[in-house]
Amino acid sequence: MICTVKQPGITGIRGSGLVFREKGSTRVQSRRLVLPSMITREKRSQRSLVSVQKPLHLSAVIGGVGNLSVRRERSEFVTCGAYEADRSEVEGAGASSPKVPSEAAKKVKIGIYFATWWALNVVFNIYNKKVLNAYPYPWLTSTLSLACGSLMMLISWATRIAEAPKTDLEFWKTLFPVAVAHTIGHVAATVSMSKVAVSFTHIIKSGEPAFSVLVSRFILGETFPVPVYLSLIPIIGGCALAAVTELNFNMIGFMGAMISNLAFVFRNIFSKKGMKGNSVSGMNYYACLSMLSLVILTPFAIAVEGPQMWAAGWQTALSQIGPQFIWWLAAQSVFYHLYNQVSYMSLDEISPLTFSIGNTMKRISVIVSSIIIFHTPVQPVNALGAAIAILGTFLYSQAKQ
Ligand code: 3PG
Repeated sequence: MICTVKQPGITGIRGSGLVFREKGSTRVQSRRLVLPSMITREKRSQRSLVSVQKPLHLSAVIGGVGNLSVRRERSEFVTCGAYEADRSEVEGAGASSPKVPSEAAKKVKIGIYFATWWALNVVFNIYNKKVLNAYPYPWLTSTLSLACGSLMMLISWATRIAEAPKTDLEFWKTLFPVAVAHTIGHVAATVSMSKVAVSFTHIIKSGEPAFSVLVSRFILGETFPVPVYLSLIPIIGGCALAAVTELNFNMIGFMGAMISNLAFVFRNIFSKKGMKGNSVSGMNYYACLSMLSLVILTPFAIAVEGPQMWAAGWQTALSQIGPQFIWWLAAQSVFYHLYNQVSYMSLDEISPLTFSIGNTMKRISVIVSSIIIFHTPVQPVNALGAAIAILGTFLYSQAKQ
């Protein structure tokens, strides 16, 4: 059967933005979230936008477009879900194809991704806070996180565990603004967590959708449906309530989380632009992002903190914690890279909406686990503020659909 598939393509996103296009259109319809890595997928999507002159097996009709935060699951996008099939499959149409993964298998796979993503993120946040409590030099620990990820990827490329990307000057130039925003967002979040409870940082970070809408509206001139604006009320109100009732409020910690939100919104916008025509895959895109961010951050880390402070603090941390402090430092660095890596992998499998909800659930996991592990004092009204903010992100997700 020869047919033309009407399949909206999409590029991935990370955090809370999304980029997607409809067939025959180069206009980006949603400016939120951009996912640094999904270039390869974008190319795949673009390929799927052309008329397909191969036998197709029509497999599903799922419908729907738009969504709030990031990219959409391929199957969800597909108005007329189709995939290339060999002739035998076409001839055998009518019977269920053995190549189509069952819904149950798909759910299991996504569940594994989510569980891994959340678990890695929870572990990162716990070790990150343990390190910062003993060694309050967030600029250095942020640098080490990026250095560790860069080293892991260089080793992967050298040993051919992963194929090294082919990049040119143009790629690095377009990656630069993304890396600047990534660096600012990363170090700002780490500075925040060095000053306040992990849970508080993540409550404020759950307000990232509000930043995305405000930047898109007032800087990019985009407009959104009224429900989207209304959903910002609980997000902003919940974050504000949590902030004013936070027992261990610290302005630097609060502003760090706010700056991180703003920086990650710009990272997503720059990523979207940088991904156009890019051929570097998700995993390698993130690796390159880590490396460039490392280059950008290192001189600033030296200027803000510096070797003398680091050396003095190192002796203090070692004397207080013992040699296991080094393992904490290694764990926070390794898990930082791993959770980011898995989050990018999960983006290949899930929709923007699912990703957004997953990211919010991730923050709930981090907030709850860190409160338990660090015995963070929480007032009921403070918890109420967090719950309202998180509820707002779900409403936002629904409104963006
Ligand atoms: C960082 O250090 O970059 C932040 O902890 C990132 O947090 P997020 O991935 O949950 O936004």
